[in-house]
Amino acid sequence: MDAIHGEIVGYWRGIVATLHQRGLLRDRSRQGGKVLPQADAILLPDRCIFALDLHRLGGIPREAWLSPELWAQWRATLQGRRVIVSDGAGLFIQVGRRPDKRTAKRLPQVIPLDLEAMPEGAYTVTLGYTKAGAVTLDLAETHRAILTGGTSGSGKTNLMQSIVLQLAARHSPDEFQVAIVDTKEVDFGRDYEGLPHLYASIAHNLQSAAELVEQVEAERLRRQAVMAKAGVVDWREMPEGAGLPLLLLIVDEAADFARTPAMETLVNIARKGRAMGISLILGTQSPSSKVIDPQVRANLPTAIAFQTRTDVESRVILGCKGAEELNRPGLALAFVDGKWQTVQTLRVDREVAQALAGQVAALERAALGEVETDLVRYAVQNLGGAFVVNQLYEQFAGQISKRRLTTLAQQWESRGWLTAERRDANGHRQGRQVTLELLALASPVYDSQDR
Ligand SMILES: Nc1ncnc2c1ncn2[C@@H]1O[C@H](COP(=O)(O)OP(=O)(O)OP(=O)(O)O)[C@@H](O)[C@H]1O
Ligand SMILES: [Mg+2]
Repeated sequence: MDAIHGEIVGYWRGIVATLHQRGLLRDRSRQGGKVLPQADAILLPDRCIFALDLHRLGGIPREAWLSPELWAQWRATLQGRRVIVSDGAGLFIQVGRRPDKRTAKRLPQVIPLDLEAMPEGAYTVTLGYTKAGAVTLDLAETHRAILTGGTSGSGKTNLMQSIVLQLAARHSPDEFQVAIVDTKEVDFGRDYEGLPHLYASIAHNLQSAAELVEQVEAERLRRQAVMAKAGVVDWREMPEGAGLPLLLLIVDEAADFARTPAMETLVNIARKGRAMGISLILGTQSPSSKVIDPQVRANLPTAIAFQTRTDVESRVILGCKGAEELNRPGLALAFVDGKWQTVQTLRVDREVAQALAGQVAALERAALGEVETDLVRYAVQNLGGAFVVNQLYEQFAGQISKRRLTTLAQQWESRGWLTAERRDANGHRQGRQVTLELLALASPVYDSQDR
């Protein structure tokens, strides 16, 4: 291969790799054999032009090629080279041969989160982009304990939301759940309250926050016991349906817990949660050694700093200075994949969160199976709305195992579909109550569009 050919192929590979990353080529490879789009190329002194005729778009819809987010991603993948796409008789992609002076030294200032574009790996999400390409995080393994800090408005909450949405978009609540402590009340608003992946209601005050942290710790111990009984050392080895999703605990402001017992619990979760599938993201606006003491710091090995006020704050988060020089929201400094990287994190637009919440709710509705629907209806019609595992088991023996019923009751309770277990005045168990939301899910649906 001569140098000219090599250069052209290099650009084309970058272009195609990005298409892959955005999931645009994935389906075709599943059907056996990757169908890559083919292009003619010309190398000019200042640019390389790829021409695709309209029959050779590789099955990728034309609109997809014309998305500004795709272009921003190409520019990042192609080391800041200018990319121009024009759409005429065919489609032309022009790649500047020298990094664009205007973009070479800086990343795009805004790279929107796009849930269509996901990296490989079950619990892997995109943190953002450097000039060399995407930076990803594995929330179940390497990056399961994350510390993030930076001044007010620097991008911490946005990052947490980006991670939650990316995981929620590709996992059902059986595979991923999230517990959120947000004492500012406004940041994780209504869009997130509606996520079926919530492990429990979002904790908005200090008392419920401490309770939620303890609840997650209790879940860790429960999992430990369940796994010991099953003779399993890693949560992912548990049989399907055992009810062990990845559980991500998010604490938006660690200062709320500074020097309280809950902080010790958090450290414990960070230290011991891995085998049980429990991950943690801890954020703080005030990275001081009072809030993030060395023990906290040591147990959250993935540190992501947004702009800090001082180099001292940078040191508290990262162990070195540098974050005080970051100059805009969303730009972060992190040690990932064995090197320091300046990353433009993905920006979450409100519509993405809203669309996802709505979409997942619709999927959930469809996901209530036949037996599950019957269980709910039976509870309402014959048990006065009480979801009593023993009685339901007697009625539905042969259709569902007792263990599955118990798990279902727990999951539905954590999703807010069943109330917590009630007892009557004499202390007799009355079971969990079916909520209106669950009843609605189990009711027949008539959609005007179907007619
Ligand atoms: N990745 C990003 N790209 C572009 N803009 C961003 C990004 N992240 C955040 N911003 C901008 O900064 C604003 C504040 O972000 P965010 O709420 O995440 O800050 P924060 O660090 O959580 O602040 P606080 O400590 O006050 O809660 C956002 O509303 C958005 O306009
Ligand atoms: Mg915030």
